[in-house]
Amino acid sequence: MSLIPVGVLGTGKHVPERVLTNFDLEKIVDTNDEWIRTRTGIRERRIASAEEAASDLAFPAAEQALKNAGITAADLDLIIVATVTPDMAFPSTACILQERLGAKKAAAFDLMAACSGFIYGLANATNFITLGTYKYALIIGVEVLSKITDYTDRNTCILFGDGAGAVVIGAVPEGRGFKSFEIGADGTGGPLLKLHAGGSRCPSSAETIAQKQHYMYMAGAEVFKFAVRIMGNAAEEALRKAGLVKEDIDLLIPHQANIRIINSALHKLNVPEDKCIINLDRYGNVGAASIPMALAEAAESGRLSPGDRIVMVGFGAGLTWGASVLVW
Ligand code: ACO
Repeated sequence: MSLIPVGVLGTGKHVPERVLTNFDLEKIVDTNDEWIRTRTGIRERRIASAEEAASDLAFPAAEQALKNAGITAADLDLIIVATVTPDMAFPSTACILQERLGAKKAAAFDLMAACSGFIYGLANATNFITLGTYKYALIIGVEVLSKITDYTDRNTCILFGDGAGAVVIGAVPEGRGFKSFEIGADGTGGPLLKLHAGGSRCPSSAETIAQKQHYMYMAGAEVFKFAVRIMGNAAEEALRKAGLVKEDIDLLIPHQANIRIINSALHKLNVPEDKCIINLDRYGNVGAASIPMALAEAAESGRLSPGDRIVMVGFGAGLTWGASVLVW
């Protein structure tokens, strides 16, 4: 059986209107713009309104990706939404979107691999298309992390923002498209980054709210060490699987968690800064949305030419990681 080459047909992105700057945060917690900029690279982030949920951010991003791909929602066979902040536990945000888009024939499910979720989603959907099971899939990374962030905790509240990035994938000419995926997990690191309450282990109650267990917990320094190690390793493994070497990288799209983590990946992969998409100064860490938002911005700005070799790489809670080599 011959495998169908699969690649990106269209991208889209959407962020909420409200901007929360470092100076705004100075008024909320004991922090300052200089510390945040030098320790993280972040200047501002977007924050959803009280009414906005994940599907509200995902919908315009999805519409844009469909338009850019030149297909309609009715053509979609599959919708995967990668998120840790779905509209609700169930139905899935993917099903909510399926209805809103009118993607009547599409199968739909959510996928949770935190900030690596978009790469996990791409890997899953690509398999369906490359085997000929499906023709078109919509993969969305979306987060409304502001809703699970404790704005009295300066260790976390400076980092996160809200947004959505979407891609439509389908068959592409031979030689283009996804060349490899490297996805993995290390559950021993689970306790380092978690949302404790609200699941079956610890259902939400007045007590869990009093203990702030409905907010994200992060052991920042440990996650930082993991991230520095795994970003380079995962990217190198994806390159190896694609039969490429570091020098072949035309563009690196890393998960936007911290400029120091990105810089260490650039150093390890020997990639100059002008071959890397960086947007965390404007959006902060947008979880699973970070890589597709950066990809959409690269596509919109005309930064991508046919044949460019793109490496996308991310890490997140779980702990998880994901990397992919994509020929544009
Ligand atoms: N403003 C001012 N000072 C601060 C702040 C702040 N916002 N936060 C911490 N500090 C202080 C600390 O209290 C500490 O002071 P001390 O030395 O007097 O104790 C000092 O700054 C250094 O603190 P560290 O925690 O060591 O700072 P570090 O350089 O490690 O940066 C950070 C912290 C930014 C959180 C970093 O560890 C990091 O980026 N970690 C990775 C986070 C990440 O990528 N998470 C992924 C989440 S993805 C997902 O799945 C949702």
